[in-house]
This record gives sequence, structure tokens and C-alpha cells, in this order.
Amino acid sequence: MQQNLPDNHTKRLVVGMSGASGAVLTIKLLQIMKTCSDWETHLVISKGAQMTIAQETDYSLSEVEAMADVLYDINDYGAKIASGTYPTEGMVIIPCSMKTVAGIASGYSDNLLLRAADVTLKERRNLVLVPRESPLSTIHLRNMLTLAEAGAYIMPPVVPYYSKLNSLEDMNVQIIGKVLDRFHIPIEGFHRWGEH
Ligand SMILES: Cc1cc2nc3c(=O)[nH]c(=O)nc-3n(C[C@H](O)[C@H](O)[C@H](O)COP(=O)(O)O)c2cc1C
Repeated sequence: MQQNLPDNHTKRLVVGMSGASGAVLTIKLLQIMKTCSDWETHLVISKGAQMTIAQETDYSLSEVEAMADVLYDINDYGAKIASGTYPTEGMVIIPCSMKTVAGIASGYSDNLLLRAADVTLKERRNLVLVPRESPLSTIHLRNMLTLAEAGAYIMPPVVPYYSKLNSLEDMNVQIIGKVLDRFHIPIEGFHRWGEH
């Protein structure tokens, strides 16, 4: 949580986009966050994610970058989000590759995305990971256990079959709705069990 700030301050969500499959999830999350007037998104895109944007979507890198309020260079270790003194509400890494999982779990912060996640953990802020891989090796599982024990939320992009969704778009909204729930950000179209 941010400290010593007025109740109506603009809240900052750090968004990490790494090179796991699921670039569309970051794009949808950024589009949804644009409708949240009291929030700012602070985006850092890994080199791997640049490849998945190109492979999986019709967006250019610059179009994705323009969806954020603040954009960071992955190599800029001097950026604001590299310091725990810069107040944010936490960070979501969506999608999160197994390499990025490993980097955070081992404290090996050799890019800004990893450093920002390391800072989020050490400051005891919300760190939400949306890891995507299948099958998962024992190494992947051990790294995720380490991170869960350190306080991170491990939220793989799991299909909510019980919601009887009709499209990939609906499914993505459910996945993102659950992630943003960790930050108490309500979104339109998110189905809660028992409410519909
Ligand atoms: C199209 C594409 C899809 C990929 N999907 C995954 C994936 O689902 N999970 C994963 O862990 N890595 C995946 N990778 C591999 C990662 O991008 C690669 O390990 C990269 O080094 C991750 O680095 P980063 O976390 O810094 O982005 C994929 C790579 C490409 C090009």
C-alpha cells in the first residue's frame, strides 16, 4: 500500500509483460485499466514479450506501449519502479514466463521487470504472477512454490468452465477480473459465482 498519500491519490499498478504465450492478456488488462480513472499503469515489456506480441497479435510493439500511462525500458535499472521508495500498489506479471518465474524466485534481477518484482516482494506489496507453461517441470513448480511462500499470488490463466463462457474474449476477461480483484479493481463483465 502507498503511504502518506491522500485518500484520493492516483494509484499505481506496475504491469510486467514477459515472453510467455498470452500477449493478448496484457493488452486486455491495459485496455481495462484505461477505464479506471484513479489508476495509472506502469508498464515494462521484456524482450521475450516483444516476440510474443509479434507472433500472437496484430498489434505493433508501439501500439501496446501506448496503452500504458508510463512506459519503462527493460534495461533501465535507474527507473522509478526499481526503487522501493517509489510508492505503488503492487505489480502484476501477465503473462509470466518460466524464465521470469525463475529470475524472481532466485532474486536474480538482471532486467527492470525482475528488479521491479523483487522490489514488490521486499516491500511486501501485492505481487501477482500469471504463469503460463504446460506441462510444468519440477523446477517450474519449485520456483512457483518459493514465490508463493514469499507471498506472491500464483494465478495461472485457468479457464473458468463453470461460467459457461462463449468466447476467448470472455475467458480473458474472467482471468483478468480475478487478477485485478487482488487490487480491489472491479471490472465490467467479470462473473462472480452466485451473483448471476
Ligand atoms: C511465441 C512464443 C511463445 C512462448 N511461450 C512461452 C510460454 O508459454 N511459457 C514460457 O515459460 N515461455 C514461453 N516462451 C519462451 C520465452 O519467451 C523465453 O523463455 C524467454 O527467454 C522469456 O524471457 P522473459 O521472461 O524475459 O520474457 C515463448 C516464446 C515464444 C517466442
